[in-house]
Amino acid sequence: MQDYRSFLSEVLVSREQLQQRVAELGKEITHDYQGEDVLLICILRGGVLFLTDLIREIDLPLEVDFMAVSSYGSGARESSGQVRITLDLGNSLEGKNVILVEDIVDSGRTIASVLGMLATRKPKSLVVCTLLDKAERRETEVPIRYRGFTIPNKFVFGYGLDIDEYYRNLPFIGVVDLEKYRPEE
Ligand code: IMP
Ligand code: MG
Repeated sequence: MQDYRSFLSEVLVSREQLQQRVAELGKEITHDYQGEDVLLICILRGGVLFLTDLIREIDLPLEVDFMAVSSYGSGARESSGQVRITLDLGNSLEGKNVILVEDIVDSGRTIASVLGMLATRKPKSLVVCTLLDKAERRETEVPIRYRGFTIPNKFVFGYGLDIDEYYRNLPFIGVVDLEKYRPEE
């Protein structure tokens, strides 16, 4: 894999901006669910850094669970919307206040499909918390209750988001210069 510095065109969201915004979201969730328990569901793998930072900013009786989905017939940078669960949740959602934690909502197809599947499992409430919202790419209406940042239509990586599965570990969100990025065959 190429060194990311050779295709990073800009840092879109810095480490400090991430920390600050994640803390704000944690406070907002703490406030909104006073007196209640919450279950945060992370969609693997992109949402995992966001989840682990976010839960430390929430002061409520809290559970976490994980699921993974894959979308059929899609390239690495597009989702088809034909979503299949590849790793299901460990526990039931019945009667729980569920917050679905995502890295990014792009076309909206993935999250719309996951919401549809989870809604049938009788949660008490079900909302979406996404770190990033690529709003201008939306094709399917999705209700987003908590949103970190609205970003322009650029391919981003870092802080959980991958470029061909690499660099989820970066502590900031960077923009890929697609002219300079050379995917391996
Ligand atoms: P959607 O179904 O089009 O909303 O796609 C959502 C999924 O596409 C996310 O969970 C990411 O895995 C992936 N994705 C969309 N945009 C980006 C990006 O800019 N960088 C990395 N992954 C992305
Ligand atoms: Mg993802």
